[in-house]
Amino acid sequence: MKRVLVAGATGYLGGFVARELAARGYFVRALARSPEKLDPLRDSLDEIVEAEVTGPETLERVCDGIDAVFSSVGITRQKDGLTFRDVDCQGNKNLLDVALRAGVEKFVYVSALGGPKLRHLDIVDAHEAFVDELKASGIGYAVLRPTGYFSDMGELLSMARKGRVWLIGSGENRVNPIHGADLAVACADAIEGEATEIEVGGPETMTWNDAAALAFEVLGRPARITRVPEWLMWPMVRLVRLFDRHQGELLAFFTTMATTDVVAPSTGTHTLEALFDRG
Ligand SMILES: NC(=O)c1ccc[n+]([C@@H]2O[C@H](COP(=O)([O-])OP(=O)(O)OC[C@H]3O[C@@H](n4cnc5c(N)ncnc54)[C@H](OP(=O)(O)O)[C@@H]3O)[C@@H](O)[C@H]2O)c1
Repeated sequence: MKRVLVAGATGYLGGFVARELAARGYFVRALARSPEKLDPLRDSLDEIVEAEVTGPETLERVCDGIDAVFSSVGITRQKDGLTFRDVDCQGNKNLLDVALRAGVEKFVYVSALGGPKLRHLDIVDAHEAFVDELKASGIGYAVLRPTGYFSDMGELLSMARKGRVWLIGSGENRVNPIHGADLAVACADAIEGEATEIEVGGPETMTWNDAAALAFEVLGRPARITRVPEWLMWPMVRLVRLFDRHQGELLAFFTTMATTDVVAPSTGTHTLEALFDRG
C-alpha cells in the first residue's frame, strides 16, 4: 500500500491522517472542495484534487492510481443545507463507487463508537448506512469507531473561559476522548492491518464533571458548572427538531453521548490537560 487518497483532509481528523501517512512514507493525494484550506498541510501532500463527494461528476479520476482511500468526510457542523444522508452516506458512497471502478484495494472509513446500536440517531444511521454499503461492496475495508474527539472537548475550555460550563445530564458518565493525532495513528494502522472493525479511544478515561473541572483548574479559576437534566433535554430535542431537523438530530446525538458511557479500548499519549494548557 503506497498511494492513499485522503478525503476530509481539510477537517480535524483528516489533516492529522494526511500528516501521519506522509510521515510513514506514503504518497498522499488529498481531495478537497476548497483546496486553499489545505495550505497548512502542503508539506504532507503530494497531490491535491479539487472535488466534492456530493458531486459525482467531480470525482471521476480522483482514485486513479490509488491503492487505498481514507475518508473522514462528514457533515457534523457544516451548514450547507445538505442532510447527514446526503454527505455521510451518499457522498461517501459516490467516492466508494469511483474507488471500485479504479480498482482501489482498501477503503478505510470513520464511523462512531456504538454505531450499530445508535441507528435511531440520523447522524449515526447515515454513517452506518454507508458502512453497510462498504461491507457489501467487496472492497477491502476497515471501519474505525472512535469515542469523542479532542476538537469537541475544546468547547469545555471555551465555556470555562466565559465563566460557566454547561453540561448535559449529571456529568457522571465516562468518556475517553481521543486527540486527532492519536486517532490518525490508528487510522494509518487500519490501512496497513487486517482488522475490519476498530473501536478506539484516548489514554484517559474521565467523567464530564472531571473534564469540566480540569478546564477551570488549568485556567486557575473556581469551577462553575451547570448541569441540564437529561429529562429536560429530550423535550428540547423534540422542539428543536420541529423547526430544524439537522440541529435537533445533532442535539439528540450530543445528549446521547453525554448521558451514556463512551469508553473504548485506549490508545495514544495526548492528555486533555495538555490540550487545555495550550489553550
Ligand atoms: N467529533 C467527534 O467527536 C466524532 C466522534 C466520532 C466520529 N466522528 C466522525 O468522524 C468524521 C470526521 O470528523 P471531523 O471532526 O474530522 O470532521 P470535520 O472537521 O467537520 O471535517 C469534515 C470533512 O468533511 C468534508 N466535507 C464535508 N462535506 C463535504 C462535501 N460535500 N464534499 C467534500 N468534502 C466534504 C469537510 O470539507 P470542508 O472543509 O470543505 O467543509 C471536511 O474536510 C465525521 O464523519 C464525524 O462524524 C466524529
